[in-house]
Amino acid sequence: MEHKQHETPLYNALKQHCSANPLSFHVPGHKYGEVFLKQAKEDYQHLLKLDATELNGLDDLHQPETVIAAAQRLAAELYGVDETFFLVNGSTVGNLVMIFATCEENSKVIVQRNCHKSIIHALQLVGATPVFLSPQFDDNVKVPSYIPYEVVKQTVECHPDAKALILTNPNYYGMAVDLTEIVDMAHRYHIPVLVDEAHGAHFVLGHPFPKTAIACGADVVVQSAHKTLPAMTMGSYLHVNSSLVDKDKIKYFLQVFQSSSPSYPIMASLDLARSYVANLSTKDIHHIQKQVDLWKNALNDIEGIEVAESQDPLVSTDLLKITMQTRCTLSGYELQKRLETENIFTELADPFNVLFVYPLALLENVEKIIGKIKRAFDGLQCSEDLFQSLKPFSFTEISQSISYRELKKLPQKFVHIEQAEGLVAAETIIPYPPGIPLLMTGEVINDKHIQYILELKKHRSHFQGGKKLALHQVEVFEK
Ligand SMILES: Cc1ncc(COP(=O)(O)O)c(C=O)c1O
Repeated sequence: MEHKQHETPLYNALKQHCSANPLSFHVPGHKYGEVFLKQAKEDYQHLLKLDATELNGLDDLHQPETVIAAAQRLAAELYGVDETFFLVNGSTVGNLVMIFATCEENSKVIVQRNCHKSIIHALQLVGATPVFLSPQFDDNVKVPSYIPYEVVKQTVECHPDAKALILTNPNYYGMAVDLTEIVDMAHRYHIPVLVDEAHGAHFVLGHPFPKTAIACGADVVVQSAHKTLPAMTMGSYLHVNSSLVDKDKIKYFLQVFQSSSPSYPIMASLDLARSYVANLSTKDIHHIQKQVDLWKNALNDIEGIEVAESQDPLVSTDLLKITMQTRCTLSGYELQKRLETENIFTELADPFNVLFVYPLALLENVEKIIGKIKRAFDGLQCSEDLFQSLKPFSFTEISQSISYRELKKLPQKFVHIEQAEGLVAAETIIPYPPGIPLLMTGEVINDKHIQYILELKKHRSHFQGGKKLALHQVEVFEK
């Protein structure tokens, strides 16, 4: 197995095809980069040379028999699953597929509230009836984290007819829990467990990374390979390891939701990323861990900021996610902007934090980067005032009104956001990143939603949805 994981069958076939300078009388129209707008040709050149299509020898993602089948099999072997499917439209499409393969209109589904918008979209499209699970709130990192076992158990006992349990693990900040007990319990009710593990494609490396959802017994697991492995943006995996989920339905919906012209550079990068992660040694990981420790210590030495980590004994935090928290008069957003003045771009900011996603490799110039960070934060003064005054958002009060199908029939109107308390939201408002809906269509708007949206607006946070949020208005259903 170790040896086979050096193989990259899809990439090799693609490289061989493209190295022979083939004459293209097929799509795509750029003809291996020959036909392209002049000023960008050089930038795109190398990649376009690999941008082939379903030609003889290159297999077909939707009916894989040769090199794609072999590449997917190697991934399945590495991840220890029955079958792995390559995704060319991110975990977004994986989440749509796993939900459509398990749920139908009016199916009851138990779902973690702090999930990515793609899960909510899938539930809306399929017309499911969600039963939301409210997450713990982590006092140190100041974000919602995981669903405790007891909460899931009580919900499953009340809804034993649920068609799926949908969890997100780890959260965006890399906080993960062992799902084994939850999965075992759901399985006793024959409920399949679908896990959005978008941020955990590298957990397959084992210690010191958190336990994988597959190792915990999950039925379907979706991972954004592109988030933490060296894969191209949108490249993701969907793993199936289950007797409760119909694999033919998974295959059917993969064809429904994915392009009939999937990108070969993306697919081949999934083959390469799998080989990359499979061949990282314990020593490599150890070196990365030491460097991350050094990085965290250096951040902790800077006045006005602190590395925040969950102290919850059930939480294991991903080594690659480093959360830097304000201890000065600047919010997370302002700290992030300061870093950008030094050309350092981070994954996200929230009122308290800035999140770094560390590479799954050793950085060559750590001291230099740390020097830049120090320069960006030069002159910060320690102060807890802002930190104490900011109010974090938790999803503790969830109140979904009626089913998505019924909501569709109701008339809508816009109201001033400060007068929206108690009304039912007719739009979804999503701070992006992280892409977790703060307010969802069908949710009863409470004071916490309103105050947090106003707080984020004050920080000029970027939103998706919220058509008239700039005018302080929110769309609601008329009663
Ligand atoms: C938890 C989670 N799930 C799913 C997604 C969607 O992933 P992708 O961008 O690969 O479509 C994201 C993206 O940020 C995410 O954070």
